[in-house]
Amino acid sequence: MAGPLSKNLQGCTLTVCQGDLTRQTVDAIVNAANSSLMGGGGVDGAIHKAGGPAILEECLQIRKTQGGCAAGEAVITSGGRLAAQYVIHTVGPIWRGGGNNEAKILTNAYRNSLQLAVDYGLKTVAFPSISTGAYGYPVEEAAKVALSAVLDFLRRRSENPPQNSESNLSEVRFVLFDPHTLNTYKSELESL
Ligand code: APR
Repeated sequence: MAGPLSKNLQGCTLTVCQGDLTRQTVDAIVNAANSSLMGGGGVDGAIHKAGGPAILEECLQIRKTQGGCAAGEAVITSGGRLAAQYVIHTVGPIWRGGGNNEAKILTNAYRNSLQLAVDYGLKTVAFPSISTGAYGYPVEEAAKVALSAVLDFLRRRSENPPQNSESNLSEVRFVLFDPHTLNTYKSELESL
């Protein structure tokens, strides 16, 4: 398994590694969900399986109050039985060739997930490679969008720091599931 890569950007450690997102000991992991919030396959299925029924119950509550979750938006539940305290559920774009605002929606998914994390005062967040599985987003493109979205978020925060410095992220981790995706994200991080 190729090794991880870390870089300190704007006071936050960006890490790219291979592993199982459900086993990460961070404040929040981010789920690549669908708009129904009713679970699915891939990382969504793994999170619900490992986290237990509490997560789906909370998703159902969210559906009752606000309907599902639009692409690019994010909602938060507890982590159930997971090591992570919270699960941030976001919905990436379905790849339709690149002319349907996919990059913007993917950027929003990362940005809104990070915004929820800082709103909750969280310090460590772990992402999967959103949209590059069932949703078909090309990994090379998605990695560029993902890392620049995170870097852009960190830059904006360091330009206008929040009142309480407590809510600063100390680590953003990308946990990838296969060597090709890992290497793609690693070379993207190296280029930053
Ligand atoms: N840990 C980390 N990454 C994982 C894991 C895991 N346990 N399981 C799968 N992945 C990886 C996939 O290999 C892929 O690189 O997560 C990435 C995203 O793939 P998907 O889970 O298929 O997510 P996405 O492409 O965003 O499609 C979302 O799939 O599972 C359904 O309900 C989900 O409808 C939604 C759609």
